[in-house]
Amino acid sequence: MSAAFARALAARGGGRVVLSDAVAELLDAATAHVRDVAVGTPVVVDSVRADASSDRLADLLPAADLVWASRVVHHLPDQQRAIDELARVLAPGGWLALREGGLATRCLPWDLGIGEPGLGDRLTAARDRWFVGMRAGMPGVKSLPVGWNKALEAAGLTDVFSFSYVIDHPAPASEEVRQSVVDWVAWLAKAGEDQLSDSDRKTVARLLDPADEAYVGARDDVFVLGASTVHLGQRPA
Ligand SMILES: C[S@@+](CC[C@H](N)C(=O)[O-])C[C@H]1O[C@@H](n2cnc3c(N)ncnc32)[C@H](O)[C@@H]1O
Repeated sequence: MSAAFARALAARGGGRVVLSDAVAELLDAATAHVRDVAVGTPVVVDSVRADASSDRLADLLPAADLVWASRVVHHLPDQQRAIDELARVLAPGGWLALREGGLATRCLPWDLGIGEPGLGDRLTAARDRWFVGMRAGMPGVKSLPVGWNKALEAAGLTDVFSFSYVIDHPAPASEEVRQSVVDWVAWLAKAGEDQLSDSDRKTVARLLDPADEAYVGARDDVFVLGASTVHLGQRPA
């Protein structure tokens, strides 16, 4: 997404993209990618390694016209406090955009010809149960008993609204999309492994084994279909 922002800024005559993450490896890889995209354009690319739940965030990051936080806030123990801190990074009139929620991604045919039909739904359900445990186990966790629009309003932002977009890569999919299906199934199965039946675990092992005839990366009927929601609020000018 930072690369998309760099392209958009380049098309408008320039600007500055500042990437931030707590994990150096991710931050460095993303920053290198965005710098490649911005070469030869009037776009400046910087990075700041920071904990998004820090109350020093607004000191570490420059005041921004747009803060884009994609699927980060749900990893933080006190989500309202984190949104308050992200809002403090905004310049007057700037927008905070949270990409959170949407619809669960689907990528597998209902009947794969091995194991019990409906594996995709069971993997998603297992991941959802893992997510509840993941949040419950965070030190200092606090519940956020409202939707994202209310949380943005509570941070003092105005003109709050949301929109959603569909991610649709139908079958037969490119090699890149198929590989992302392999990665997605592997991630879902790892996150939810305690919740899956032995039968489903065996099916997943076969789907992820490139030497198995059931290898999911070799199927031309896998796809990626999902939807993401972006929730926005503006800091009063
Ligand atoms: C689900 S990934 C989302 C990655 C990317 N933003 C996206 O939308 O695809 C969660 C990201 O949040 C980062 N993260 C988790 N806890 C963080 C924290 N306390 N401060 C900053 N970044 C954090 C992780 O390193 C990871 O890059």
